[in-house]
Amino acid sequence: MKRKVVLDVDTGTDDAIAVMMAGLAREIDLIGCTTVWGNHGTDETTENTLRVLDLLGRDDVPVRRGLDRPFAPIPFIFEDHVDSAREAIHPHEFPIPRTSERQAEPGAVEWLVETLRAATEPITLVPVAPLTNIAAAITLDPSIVDAVDEIVIMGGAHALGNVTPSAEANIWHDPVAADVVFRAGFERLVLVPLDATHRANVSLGQIARLRELGPVGAAAAELIAQRIRGYNETQPMDEVDTAPIHDALCIAYLLDPEVIDIAPYHVAVDTVSPLTFGKTVVDVAGRSGHKPNAYVALDADAQRFGSLLHGVIAASGPAR
Ligand code: RIB
Ligand code: CA
Repeated sequence: MKRKVVLDVDTGTDDAIAVMMAGLAREIDLIGCTTVWGNHGTDETTENTLRVLDLLGRDDVPVRRGLDRPFAPIPFIFEDHVDSAREAIHPHEFPIPRTSERQAEPGAVEWLVETLRAATEPITLVPVAPLTNIAAAITLDPSIVDAVDEIVIMGGAHALGNVTPSAEANIWHDPVAADVVFRAGFERLVLVPLDATHRANVSLGQIARLRELGPVGAAAAELIAQRIRGYNETQPMDEVDTAPIHDALCIAYLLDPEVIDIAPYHVAVDTVSPLTFGKTVVDVAGRSGHKPNAYVALDADAQRFGSLLHGVIAASGPAR
């Protein structure tokens, strides 16, 4: 039985790989993509998502545009924040041809609420972007969490940060939305933070093999090459000429849960402090007195991830 999945994306370079894997994997019924601001505004994240699905020959997957600003206003102006990495890692030159496909109506938040209310089978939510759409849908109808068997979130960090020393981009962009999601009472919330994604980096050698897999493999290789250049320039990994493909690790987990190591911890989000705004506080030592509300991945199997990535694209055969 295929697993029904909704991907919430701010398509940039790693979201695009996640859309490829979800759109191609035989185990997944990708019932829709919802787009949100983050790496880019929703004009661009929506267009980029449509382009990827068109390349896959998956125009049957509806794309719905979501929200373009945080769920709650940021309580102060960042004086010294510089997010130069985003432009380098998610360049506007998106290496997949334009498409005439357009987003479907209604918009993302209304569609999420309607779809989850009407669900007759469990739906897996995979937000790999700021959690603005998900928080808005929960606020409209808190009961929608009951239709979700598992929410798998790319976001947060325990011992790392990428937009500040202590915060990861998806959470930092909308910490109040993340707080709403962590408190919403999902039956099973899996958090895939930087601590895991940075342990599943992809290398130039691996993308050389992807490049041999037809138009989809070539596009994946170029997207990852953009990421490797961007990481080398702005936040080089321990192994140079490699880059994390954060969002794709969430889809890999759906295909093979052993690709990440998860454990139950309480996770809270800082929504107020200028110093640690957007930090996910993962209570690994059980000091908060709160019950765990998430399964948090603090490690990943890079070789397993690389094989899953290559295998899904290779099995897809030549795209149309
Ligand atoms: O911090 C990494 C996350 O931020 C990824 O989802 C990337 O696409 C950006 O949204
Ligand atoms: Ca993303």
